Amino acid sequence: MTVLQILGMISRFAFAMICCLYMTPSDCQTIMKDSSVVESSPDLYADFRLFEQVKKLLHLKPYELWWENSLGSQVSMQTFSSWLGDINVPSRVAVRKYLKAKKYSSILDIPSGMCIDFFGFKHDNIEIDYYGVDITSKLVCYGKKLGINVFLGSIEKIPMHNSCLDVCYARHILEHLDYYHKAISEMIRVAKKEVIIVFFIKPNNRPDHINYYEKNGYELYENYYNQQKIEKYVASLAQVDYFEWEQVKWREKILHIYLTAA
Ligand SMILES: C[S@@+](CC[C@H](N)C(=O)[O-])C[C@H]1O[C@@H](n2cnc3c(N)ncnc32)[C@H](O)[C@@H]1O
Repeated sequence: MTVLQILGMISRFAFAMICCLYMTPSDCQTIMKDSSVVESSPDLYADFRLFEQVKKLLHLKPYELWWENSLGSQVSMQTFSSWLGDINVPSRVAVRKYLKAKKYSSILDIPSGMCIDFFGFKHDNIEIDYYGVDITSKLVCYGKKLGINVFLGSIEKIPMHNSCLDVCYARHILEHLDYYHKAISEMIRVAKKEVIIVFFIKPNNRPDHINYYEKNGYELYENYYNQQKIEKYVASLAQVDYFEWEQVKWREKILHIYLTAA
């Protein structure tokens, strides 16, 4: 491979990454295909440093940096994968069963992590256009390397247009943010029909407990939220028609937020 070919490959890749921040999923898909990034790069995972410039545009908060800086070093990808569980964990199975019945045509999985639900949908033959967004560039590279539509971005500032997908699905993230307001309102903005949120710490009747702690020099959150406060906030949002809770085994609880037709 010549130096020119390598430079061409890098610039196409960087261009595609920057475009991914600001374009709709279908725009991104076209660009990724046209620039043949997936086919041409021998090892996208090794190219994650190219995200550095794009990442600055996201203005990562201290608690968001932990994922980028720890995954693949202090926490191996294998350990991370064991935290996430496979396609058979109860909440993933419950969401798939639900989606199969709903027949939605497109879904945003945010954060997509290792795209485990993408494989779950394939396994259960759920025909749905899958898009993922995650704040961790290593994970975005991982998904792209597998040929999945994954983009870099934050759940608090989703890089997509209003009402551009049927359903927006967030599993195991709201407890890791400093609070949930921005994330929920962003998901409602980009979804047309429904927002599905899986909590790994079941919201309950006790007051909010913002559980902030430090780990290896990073600040992290694992918050406990008051259920009535979540409901009050969701009910106050204009696009919300109604919502309901679904109990899953163990600690998880799913919130379904149904949206009014735009
Ligand atoms: C516990 S994992 C859950 C991943 C996936 N939803 C699943 O269930 O397999 C949390 C993920 O959130 C991502 N993340 C953390 N803060 C985020 C933010 N503000 N916006 C988008 N993704 C974020 C991390 O990179 C990580 O992939």
